[in-house]
Amino acid sequence: MQLLDGKKTAEDIKNEIAIEVQAIKDAGGKVPHLAAVIVGTDGASLTYVGSKVRSCQQIGFDSTLVSLPETITEVELLAKIKELNEDDNLDGYIVQLPLPKHIDEQKILMAIDPDKDVDGFHPTNFGKMALEMDTFIPATPFGIMQLLERYNVETAGKHTVVIGRSHIVGRPMSILMSRKGNPGDSTVTLTHSRTKNIEEYTKNADIIITALGVPNYLKADMVKDGVVVIDVGITRVDDATNPKGYVITGDVDFAEVSKKSSFITPVPGGVGPMTIAMLLKNTLLARKMKAGK
Ligand code: GUN
Repeated sequence: MQLLDGKKTAEDIKNEIAIEVQAIKDAGGKVPHLAAVIVGTDGASLTYVGSKVRSCQQIGFDSTLVSLPETITEVELLAKIKELNEDDNLDGYIVQLPLPKHIDEQKILMAIDPDKDVDGFHPTNFGKMALEMDTFIPATPFGIMQLLERYNVETAGKHTVVIGRSHIVGRPMSILMSRKGNPGDSTVTLTHSRTKNIEEYTKNADIIITALGVPNYLKADMVKDGVVVIDVGITRVDDATNPKGYVITGDVDFAEVSKKSSFITPVPGGVGPMTIAMLLKNTLLARKMKAGK
């Protein structure tokens, strides 16, 4: 069993980006600038956005945190989006999801300038991804593709089973794994909450990517020997023995499934750190596009 070490790989990628940022600075150019919009005070969202902004500072990007109250109206948020679209000093931005229930998420995502959409959630970018054109790839799926590539995991002709069809992870992952190229060229089954007998698919999978949010869902008797397992689950599970009062738990029963795996991501330290690294990579790409390079 080999661990797909997202923590280390993310550090490698951040170092690579920091070198490029230094080169831009040395040449008298403008460094990439990322903004993150957060609405409300959800604990997990605040944590993610906080680490996105901190990572920007670490590698020499400019960063802006736009904190908005839970009570903001859709019209007010759309006005803020327009302002960010028109801000020439800004290369890319994200709107942290989920948004409060009174705001139409699709309406907001549609309003983001596709050239600044470093999350890759706008239909223009999502469509380009599906059509195998160059574009921003959503950060979590992009991070998984990088892990597979950097650890030379064979994907061509393999059966990849994705669990979960969210717009952020499962759906784009299913598209990316079926695209031509490496990683890719996989035969993909996209399973979800309405799939019957999921274990019939997982038992026949060469690669399993779970993005379900159910702690320890994938058990050893659901996988075959030699399977590659990518665990996107990050659920906070109450734990009084932990100083934080919770532990981050993945979708995979790691202790047992890892014994049958050829490659597996840990939680934490697997896919999570890669997401931020890839968001930074997309922001660098946005800056280069703007600079016409
Ligand atoms: N919420 C959970 N994951 C993400 C992400 O990758 N981007 C945004 N904007 N919100 C999220």
